[in-house]
Amino acid sequence: PEAITVQELANRMAEKGADLVKALFNMGMMVTVNQTIDQDTAELLVTEFGHNIERVSASDIDIDTSTDVDTEESLKSRPPVVAIMGHVDHGKTSLLDALRGTDVVRGEAGGITQHIGAYQIKTKSGDQITVLDTPGHAAFTQMRMRGANVTDIVILVVAADDGIMPQTIEAINHTKAAGVPMIVAINKCDKEDANPQKVRERLLEHEIIVEEMSGDVQDVEVSAKTGKGLDELIDKILLQAELMELKANPDRPAEATVIEAKLDKGKGPVATVLVNRGTLKRGDIFVVGTESGRVRAMNDDKGRQVKEAGPSTPVEVLGLGGVPMAGDTLTVVESEQRAREVSAWRQEQATAKRTAMAPASLDTMFSALA
Ligand code: GTP
Ligand code: MG
Repeated sequence: PEAITVQELANRMAEKGADLVKALFNMGMMVTVNQTIDQDTAELLVTEFGHNIERVSASDIDIDTSTDVDTEESLKSRPPVVAIMGHVDHGKTSLLDALRGTDVVRGEAGGITQHIGAYQIKTKSGDQITVLDTPGHAAFTQMRMRGANVTDIVILVVAADDGIMPQTIEAINHTKAAGVPMIVAINKCDKEDANPQKVRERLLEHEIIVEEMSGDVQDVEVSAKTGKGLDELIDKILLQAELMELKANPDRPAEATVIEAKLDKGKGPVATVLVNRGTLKRGDIFVVGTESGRVRAMNDDKGRQVKEAGPSTPVEVLGLGGVPMAGDTLTVVESEQRAREVSAWRQEQATAKRTAMAPASLDTMFSALA
């Protein structure tokens, strides 16, 4: 059942909130303007004030993209989205750096990844791979879960000297839950005490049977330090991606997933999004969670300005009205009016949910009546 705050109902009827509170009081209900009332009570009030009832439901206002299916002909192949997961310090970011030829690790506070970073790799063969780096620290379970959810393929990084550890097992579980294929990268194979065979054996306990053990999960021995096995890892990712026939329609208004979002001191609210389908363009008007906005600028993973971003491309978006939540969907809409309508509706729903259970004290009751 949909609920609405007294104030919001008053706004919609162009009446004073206090008048509604009074009317409700006369009906035997003690509520403040900020509290929600159920649909039946709202309808009673509307009639009481001599207005007409017009029921509006989510399907009338909100965006429903599930019915908006792309035709087979419109689909074009897109790069795979790969998440690097594994236990803390097993070398996820180092591996990403080695693959990209960058040095992200050095820029991290204490060498610990604290967020999901989204990057692009261009392979020697000219193929693109989108890579999400996730934190291995125990505190970041939520982020790893999110990472697994927007991902086509998971690279499970296991340090050959350290072996299977708690966050290794957790990453395995997220991957299984998300139903995503896995490639095991046994890292730090340059180390003297590296024991990749033991890693393979211990993986059996978690029902991961790698190719080396005659299973069907691809595995590869790598070293982010020496570069050993990196080309082979890329080949395995591309092979897996090819099997999956990943496609999306690039020629439509964009839909993207928020990977992370924050309030930047200089830039205002910024969100790193991953485009799922369509092409996101500068100037596009959008709704994202309960926020709306217009793409003022976009930056790629190297901080360069870009004018548009197609499927599987991660970009930082500027021009949001507020900070959305990670996991929110960004949807491009046709007009500012539409964007405002949808975000206002969603904000109302969110507020109603939050205040539905909030009890009113007598103090606030009477100040509302005054
Ligand atoms: P979190 O983001 O904190 O979970 O760690 P991470 O998995 O990203 O590990 P990171 O890349 O920060 O590497 C941790 C440490 O292992 C660093 O000191 C790296 O230099 C070292 N390291 C990473 N890969 C290798 C490798 O292949 N060989 C050796 N010898 N050291 C490595
Ligand atoms: Mg890291």
